[in-house]
Amino acid sequence: MKIQIDYSHCMASNIGPKNGVPDELLNLQSKRLEDALSNLQTKKQSGELGFFDLFETVNTAAIKEYVQQTADRFEDIVVIGIGGSSLGNRTLHQALNHPLIQKGKRFPKIQVCDNIDPDALHAIFHDVKSLKTTQFQIITKSGSTAETLANFMISYQTLKKAGLKASEQIVAITDPASGDLLKLAKQERFKTFPVPPNVGGRFSVLTSVGLLSAAYSGIDIDSVLAGAKKISSRCWEKDLSNNPAGLLAFLFTNLCDSRNKPILIFMPYSYRLKSFALWFCQLWAESLGKQGKGQTPVATEGAADQHSQIQLYMEGPEDKVIQFLRVREPLEDFELNADLSADSIDYLKGKSLHQLFLAEQTATATALARAGRPNLTIEIDRITEENVGALFYLFEFATAIAGEFWNINAFDQPGVEEGKRLTVAMMDRARYESKKAELDRWQKELHKYLWE
Ligand code: PA5
Repeated sequence: MKIQIDYSHCMASNIGPKNGVPDELLNLQSKRLEDALSNLQTKKQSGELGFFDLFETVNTAAIKEYVQQTADRFEDIVVIGIGGSSLGNRTLHQALNHPLIQKGKRFPKIQVCDNIDPDALHAIFHDVKSLKTTQFQIITKSGSTAETLANFMISYQTLKKAGLKASEQIVAITDPASGDLLKLAKQERFKTFPVPPNVGGRFSVLTSVGLLSAAYSGIDIDSVLAGAKKISSRCWEKDLSNNPAGLLAFLFTNLCDSRNKPILIFMPYSYRLKSFALWFCQLWAESLGKQGKGQTPVATEGAADQHSQIQLYMEGPEDKVIQFLRVREPLEDFELNADLSADSIDYLKGKSLHQLFLAEQTATATALARAGRPNLTIEIDRITEENVGALFYLFEFATAIAGEFWNINAFDQPGVEEGKRLTVAMMDRARYESKKAELDRWQKELHKYLWE
C-alpha cells in the first residue's frame, strides 16, 4: 500500500500569498488538530461514531460464508439503495471489479439501481440474464427511504408475479434493531445483514453495505478493511504534517475560509476512480454543508475535462482548490508505436499511453500552480483493495476532522428532511395533509410565471 499527498501547490511559498496557505500556519495548527482528534476520540469511545474501527467490528466471515453458499445461484446482482447506501458500491465495483482482473473468472454481474427513473429500472430488468438467477440487495439503513422502498416493491412484486420466492432472492441490508425494512424482512424471511446503528450512510461503505456485493465479485474484502486499518493510526497522529486526514481537512477548510475557495474540485486521472470522486462529493457535501458553512465539491475527470473545465479553473473566478488523484501503475499499459509519421505524433512514439496520462496530470497541476491556483495531488501506487480501503477511510476521517474544525456535526443531514416531508405529502401519506395543503398553496403562487 502506498499513498502520497503532495500539497506543495497549496502553499504560499510556491503559489504566492494571495491564494496559498501561509507555510508557517502548518506548525501552528497541531493544537487545533489535537483538540479535534480528542473530540472524535470521545465520540468513538462512547460508541457514538462507529466508522473509525470497522476493520475490527465488521463480521467479514459471515459475509464471505453467505456469499460462498449462494454465489453459484446468481448471474446478476442488483444493488438497490441511494446516497450513502449506493455510491460506495458503485465506487468499489468501478475500482476493483475490472475485466482485466476478472479475466477467466466467473462472478455475477453487479448493477446499482440508485434512482427512481422507470427508464433506468427497465434497462436493468431488460439487462439481467434471467429473473430467476438475479439477487436483489436492498440497502437502506433507516429502512424507510422512499426511492429504495419503491424499487424494492417493484423487485418483490416482479419476483412474485414470476412465481419465484422473494425470500431466496432478496437480501436486506439495514439497521439491525429498527425500521420498516427490518420488519418486512422478518415477515418475509429475507436474509439480512446489518448496517451498524452508529455508522451513518455515507460512512458505511466498509460495512456489509459495500462489502456484500464486493465479496460476490471476488473482491478481497479483508484486504479492503486491512487498508483502512493501515492508514488508521496515521489519521490519529497529533502532529498535523504527519496526519494525512488532518492535512486534507486543514488545507481545504483553510483555503475555503481564509483564501476564499468555496469550491473543491476532485479530478481523478483514473477511469477506475471516477466513481470515487462522486462518493467523495456526497461525503464532503452532505457532511459539511451546514449552518452556512461548507465547500461545494465537484467531480470531474482527467484528462477528459482538461478539454472542458480547465480553462475556467485557470482563468475564471479564483474560488477553487483542485484535488487530483492519480495512479502510478495501470493494470496494463499500451505502447505508442504505430508505423505512421506526422509532426503531431512523432514525439509520442516510443512512449506509453499511461506516460502521457501522468504527464498531462503533472502539466495541468503545474500550470494551475503557476497561475496561482491552489491544487494538491494524491498518488497511489496501484488500484488495489488495500489502497481503495485506505482512501475511503482517509477521506471519511478528513471529513470528520473538517466537521470539528468548522464546529458542525458532520454526521447528520437535517437539510434533506423538508424535501422528504413534502414528497410524502405529495404522495398522500397519512398525517401529512397540512404539508400537502402548504405545498399546493406554494405551487399555485409559483406558477404565475410560466412560459409554454
Ligand atoms: O449519508 C446518508 O446518511 C444518506 O445519504 C443516506 O445514505 C441516504 O439518504 C439513504 O438513506 P438510507 O440508507 O436510510 O436509505
